[in-house]
Amino acid sequence: MARILDGASIAAEIKREVGEEVRALTARGIRPGLAAVLVGSVAASQIYVRNKVQACAELGLFSELITPPETVTTEDMLDMVAALNSRDEIDGILIQLPLPPKVEAKALLDAVSPAKDVDGFHPINVGRLQAGRPALAPCTPAGVIEILKRSGIPIAGRHAVVVGRSDIVGKPAAMLLLHQNATVTICHSKTQDLGEVTRQADILVAAIGRPGFITPEMVKPGATIIDVGINRIDTREEFDRFFAGDAKREAAFARRGSVLVGDVHPKAFELAGAYTPVPGGVGLLTIAMLMASTVRAAKMRRGL
Ligand SMILES: NC(=O)c1ccc[n+]([C@@H]2O[C@H](COP(=O)([O-])OP(=O)(O)OC[C@H]3O[C@@H](n4cnc5c(N)ncnc54)[C@H](OP(=O)(O)O)[C@@H]3O)[C@@H](O)[C@H]2O)c1
Repeated sequence: MARILDGASIAAEIKREVGEEVRALTARGIRPGLAAVLVGSVAASQIYVRNKVQACAELGLFSELITPPETVTTEDMLDMVAALNSRDEIDGILIQLPLPPKVEAKALLDAVSPAKDVDGFHPINVGRLQAGRPALAPCTPAGVIEILKRSGIPIAGRHAVVVGRSDIVGKPAAMLLLHQNATVTICHSKTQDLGEVTRQADILVAAIGRPGFITPEMVKPGATIIDVGINRIDTREEFDRFFAGDAKREAAFARRGSVLVGDVHPKAFELAGAYTPVPGGVGLLTIAMLMASTVRAAKMRRGL
């Protein structure tokens, strides 16, 4: 039986530690603070941001939610970021993506002070991460490393294969695994004989954005599978492709009309030594890591 790497309990452990750190800092007059900027009314973004603000409240961080209208201009957004950069009670600035198409996302992300870039998207932090210097790292890949470490999965000397090379997940995940002394291979849509490569993985990280893409024949028996993918499926045909005969999911599908599936086919998990489920795996770590990143930013900015 493959071991399930439970994102909920690991996230709770990290939040507990962060909460303790926030209490200790607050007692010294430093209350870490996060500004969350949410433009427009994308339903999923609203839920993510609400959860982030709620986590701040739970752990004792200061938070401020800023909600410019969909019609906001890049210039207005740049002014807002400049104001947040200069406010001392704000340690982290989070700009929820996606932004409306006419807002220049790159210009905006580059305008966030690297010291407050708790998502780790600023080129300065990307460069620092690559150079092995202290950096604020993207939260989802940082969560992947926490899951592996806290579950006692050896990384050093293992072959880690990351499928996906996005700036948000794939590339930073590969870099963080490299810093943990894994031998890292990065795959993408132009990779030839993908299954040949993924079958060599001791640790397989799937960050593709395609439901159930990693099938059993692409997995080495006993491998650790980290499924970063979050895909919503809402047709009976897709449901049956992944979850036929799964009574619990069937009930959820009947209730909600959709269910989540990762980038790994559920049958592939049966071959794994350990794996992160979807939901209940990597996704739960992202907010915990954002809280940790905000506290880290608060300390780094003050030389602590
Ligand atoms: N909190 C969380 O848990 C969290 C956070 C972020 C993202 N996610 C999820 O993680 C997944 C990936 O997100 P992302 O932002 O990294 O996606 P993305 O920017 O769309 O990148 C997808 C990557 O997958 C690669 N890819 C696509 N089709 C492929 C194929 N047929 N074979 C091999 N590689 C292929 C792409 O290759 P090319 O570069 O060649 O196009 C690209 O590098 C999504 O399901 C997303 O919802 C979860």
